[in-house]
Amino acid sequence: MKESCKRLEYVHDQLGEIIRPGISTYEINKIGDRLIREQGGIPNFLNYNGYPASICVSVNDEVVHGIPKKERLLEEGDIVSLDAGLIYKGYHSDAARTYPVGKISEEHQKLIDVTRQSFFEGIKFAREGNHLHDISNAIDDYVTSFGFGIVQDLVGHGIGTSLHEDPQIPNFRQKKRGLKLRAGMTLAIEPMINLGGWEVEWLDDDWTVVTQDGTYSAHYENTILITTGDPEILTLNSYEK
Ligand code: MF3
Ligand code: CO
Repeated sequence: MKESCKRLEYVHDQLGEIIRPGISTYEINKIGDRLIREQGGIPNFLNYNGYPASICVSVNDEVVHGIPKKERLLEEGDIVSLDAGLIYKGYHSDAARTYPVGKISEEHQKLIDVTRQSFFEGIKFAREGNHLHDISNAIDDYVTSFGFGIVQDLVGHGIGTSLHEDPQIPNFRQKKRGLKLRAGMTLAIEPMINLGGWEVEWLDDDWTVVTQDGTYSAHYENTILITTGDPEILTLNSYEK
């Protein structure tokens, strides 16, 4: 898992450098696919339930699973979420980042920052002996304090020799405590946060998830390892921590 995640971290770092007005979402996917393969990885999203690309590129009101297109060019003021994953020696990794394109509004930067920080608020509770939904509740408390909408139709997940394993990891408040966390578990925690309401809908392409009210949405995800102490963030560079 660590080797797989390290390679994905490199892919994300490289992709972060190419985001600029004028680049197409198609080009971002093409470069991401190449980076994954150069690392000895296999893109795990490509052909997953028929998904047609290696990187999900979701712009503005697109929440997740945007399909890269030649004619979709990023513009100054956009925000773009890149979700990427790979398989290395049979082990999956999964991570997402949201970037500003050129200069963006203050409220959209706030949305990106709160989404990212909500992940860190959540994993404060990602410790052996705690319960899964301690993470969910912490994310909810933090995001709700800013009045943003938390996507409920999609959730985080266990990850390992498959991309999606049990348990599901909601980013919103839960009534039950959820399972007990144990050292050795690997989890993909991925808050998806909307500037407006939490409601989402699917476009006719059957993939792209968009906000119902048209407000912008941000996504932040890492694959983490539960230990007997602090959790390890496997898809994050030491300088970003
Ligand atoms: N990162 C996404 C997730 O966590 C995976 C993309 S789904 C795919 O579930 F179909 F596009 F691969
Ligand atoms: Co995921």
